[in-house]
Amino acid sequence: MLLSLLLLLLLVSGSQATHFLGTMMTYYPEETRADGSVSVILHYKLNFVLCSHSDTWVCSGNCGTQTQTLALSVVEEVSGEWCQREGVITRLLPNNNGFQTKLDNGNWINNIQNGIANWRAVTDVEVRNRSDIGKPNTSPQTTILPALRIPSNCAKNIDLLAFDPDGDEVRCRYGNTSDSECNPCSPPSVLSVSSNCSLSFSPTYSNSELPYAVQLVIEDFPTQDINLIQTDGSQEINHLFSQRS
Ligand SMILES: *[C@@H]1O[C@H](CO)[C@@H](O)[C@H](O)[C@H]1NC(C)=O
Ligand SMILES: *[C@@H]1O[C@H](CO)[C@@H](O)[C@H](O)[C@H]1NC(C)=O
Ligand SMILES: *[C@@H]1O[C@H](CO)[C@@H](O)[C@H](O)[C@H]1NC(C)=O
Repeated sequence: MLLSLLLLLLLVSGSQATHFLGTMMTYYPEETRADGSVSVILHYKLNFVLCSHSDTWVCSGNCGTQTQTLALSVVEEVSGEWCQREGVITRLLPNNNGFQTKLDNGNWINNIQNGIANWRAVTDVEVRNRSDIGKPNTSPQTTILPALRIPSNCAKNIDLLAFDPDGDEVRCRYGNTSDSECNPCSPPSVLSVSSNCSLSFSPTYSNSELPYAVQLVIEDFPTQDINLIQTDGSQEINHLFSQRS
């Protein structure tokens, strides 16, 4: 139903040059006002090599007005290697039509093995009133650290610990290039993702120390059919299509 895209970097090990190291965004509805306007809060993290690197989310659709509720703040810094910051944006929308917000630029750090140079992260924000919970959707949440370093000669499972505050089923998958979810999406050959958000790493038996970019989409699916109700009263039924695994 609603998507939130997570980019994370898996470092099989090794050193890096410059300069993007992943991002992640989640959102939740704040308030629906009597006049039908809706406020929604977007939390994001940005990881770069240096804290002086930056990029901004661009909105399309029913964007309303934006307030930077929390200015980009450093969460963690390893001088010259790693700077994680977080920020919070509030958008006040004139009605409850949705919007999309995107981080779309370049470049990731050098020597990424699965051919990723440009970064792109996309969040589709659905704020129509859900018939089952009587309020708009909240995106899936996850506690993943956006960079992991693991030995290249050992198999490993990494559980992303994603959950959904609305009680929806959460599923993970790789981004889809034809849906413009990344640029390009080309998943790492050494890693497979299960819909239950478990990443399985296959040993490479290579001595090289190499980074891979891992571009994932985390989606929430209601466990029953629900109606999505627009401010003007029109409705759309949202089904659960895919099978469970
Ligand atoms: C959302 O829907 C519920 C019931 O379906 C209703 O009680 C509630 O007032 C609606 N909220 C808004 C903001 O329209
Ligand atoms: C990617 O998106 C296209 C267009 O929506 C769709 O036809 C295709 O099945 C998707 N591929 C995967 C692997 O989900
Ligand atoms: C997730 O799915 C994989 C592959 O289907 C399975 O091996 C693993 O045990 C599952 N993990 C959990 C926590 O259910």
